[in-house]
Amino acid sequence: MERLQKVIASSGIASRRKAEELINKGKVKVNGNIVTELGTKVSGNDTIEVDGTILKRDSVKEYYLLNKPRGVISSVSDDLNRPTVVDYIDTDARIYPVGRLDYDTTGLIILTNDGELTNILAHPRNKIPKTYIAKIEGLLNKDDIDRLRNGILIEGRKVVVENFKIRDKDFEKKTSLIELTIFEGRNHIVKKLFESLHHPVIRLSRIKIAFLSSENLKSGQYRKLSIKEVKKLYSLK
Ligand code: URA
Repeated sequence: MERLQKVIASSGIASRRKAEELINKGKVKVNGNIVTELGTKVSGNDTIEVDGTILKRDSVKEYYLLNKPRGVISSVSDDLNRPTVVDYIDTDARIYPVGRLDYDTTGLIILTNDGELTNILAHPRNKIPKTYIAKIEGLLNKDDIDRLRNGILIEGRKVVVENFKIRDKDFEKKTSLIELTIFEGRNHIVKKLFESLHHPVIRLSRIKIAFLSSENLKSGQYRKLSIKEVKKLYSLK
């Protein structure tokens, strides 16, 4: 989902400021309805009409899998001019990341201009598994492990954890390497999970999204998804 004024601006028909002006003046329709709220978010599926003209969106859909490095923002642009995940992909299509990884989190992220697939992957109902490796402070005790396996309440909602594994323990430095799979995309959710156990995350990497793994993709590298893979992602609905 992107802000309406940004979508209008990135289509090239108006600057961001001009786009905001058009929205304020009631000249913009989303799916046939006039929208005057500047913060309105739209997806690739929404039809946007500006001053009577329907905005041309990308008709050819593109799908990429990027191994995001640390220090990269998971959005299309950044007010502070930091590198974004989109900068890594060589395309003219208006792709955007599906969900987000924190600035300091590394690993897999899908980028596309396909709003329908984005909705499928982002909807909590579809419970798309995502596997992470977290380096955490301290060593987990039995109680921590039981709590993780039983699911922990974060902000009133339980986080279901599967495939929980302690990959490594460093008794000297008092750190652990944990692998776990979760099925949701709430912001900072893995960090919050370990924070709640008083074992803050030192480093975090996403190594799998559903059946897609980071094998063969070095940090900063990306590849196109195959049609078969895209179909398989659609079938997760
Ligand atoms: N959970 C987090 O805390 N951060 C991420 O980037 C992804 C999941």
